Amino acid sequence: MAPHLFLTGGTGYIGGTVLDTLVKTHPEYNISVLLRHVPEDFVRRYPDVKIVMGDYDSGETISNAAVNANVVIHNGNSDHEPSINALIAGLLRRGSPSFLIHLSGTGIVADWLEGKYVGKLNPKVWNDIDDLDEIVSRPDRELHRNVDKIIQKAASDHGDRLKTAIVCPPDIYGTGRGPGRTQSVFFPLFVKQARAVGRPFYAGDGTNTRSWVHIEDLMVIYLKLVEAAVNGGKGADWGRDGYYFAATQEASQVDIAKAAGKILKATGVLSDAEPCKIADQEVDTMLDSWSIPHLGTYMFAANSRTRAHRAAKLFGYEGKSLSLWEAMEADLSACV
Ligand SMILES: NC(=O)c1ccc[n+]([C@@H]2O[C@H](COP(=O)([O-])OP(=O)(O)OC[C@H]3O[C@@H](n4cnc5c(N)ncnc54)[C@H](OP(=O)(O)O)[C@@H]3O)[C@@H](O)[C@H]2O)c1
Repeated sequence: MAPHLFLTGGTGYIGGTVLDTLVKTHPEYNISVLLRHVPEDFVRRYPDVKIVMGDYDSGETISNAAVNANVVIHNGNSDHEPSINALIAGLLRRGSPSFLIHLSGTGIVADWLEGKYVGKLNPKVWNDIDDLDEIVSRPDRELHRNVDKIIQKAASDHGDRLKTAIVCPPDIYGTGRGPGRTQSVFFPLFVKQARAVGRPFYAGDGTNTRSWVHIEDLMVIYLKLVEAAVNGGKGADWGRDGYYFAATQEASQVDIAKAAGKILKATGVLSDAEPCKIADQEVDTMLDSWSIPHLGTYMFAANSRTRAHRAAKLFGYEGKSLSLWEAMEADLSACV
């Protein structure tokens, strides 16, 4: 019998691309997707995908959908506790083992709250095999830690019948392929702030460095995990070991500011391409409207350097898509 997949976040940048990838690669899968609104051309594009109407707070709907799924792929909000609890409760009601693939993010290892490396290179590089003990015991204050913890506890309590994987991408670039949002988060925010400052910008000496992945490279990890899950889990790590970084390259803030500045000047968005240094305090409050304190530091002045050793070991994973520098012009054009 064809496997049944239940996916959330199908109108999002990442989740939409996961949906599109699965539908195109495996038309034989039965796929259901949670939607709180149905994009206009959704049914035309995905006539065989079953729509489950609801949002992340529709606990019973989510739980009931999970009961019917061999594999749940949860993509839209890496911090939302009621939805992950409902999914786990549903999967545990099943009579047979099932799989949960959850989207987290390398915010969990970012140094934005440490203060020591604001705008400076942090030599610490995390890999998802050697540093696993530290990654799965990050302080509660770290981004996405609340939900990672719920999943890790469920995996430890019910590992015989619930196989979990946490996909932990760094910053993502490239155009998505889903039915809703197709742009990532970094460049729209950077352009908006650069317009306000009048120039591309950095804090400190701008050497703070983050890892990156092209959305299409990230899809390789999703596809391999879903295919492994459908085959009973063979070929992938699950539970405590099922933690997957996805980085393929890294870039410092000052190098991004230089490259973006040239493009934004050429397209008339900025009159000055030369990056400028701004005060730590200014960058810190830039994204205050998001109501996450210090989010500006996280986004533009922190380090988050990761290596995807597990995916490389298990799947032969490596970056094959356009590099960040090659894709930047298209990403910037899409948000100006
Ligand atoms: N983009 C990146 O560079 C990146 C990197 C690492 C980690 N992440 C993390 O990955 C997650 C998703 O990122 P994204 O860029 O794909 O975000 P996105 O494009 O904004 O997509 C969010 C998706 O979740 C859905 N959603 C959100 N809240 C919902 C709710 N209460 N009920 C039902 N659906 C809801 C949205 O549905 P609607 O269309 O109905 O709003 C949309 O489908 C975020 O938590 C982010 O922190 C992102």
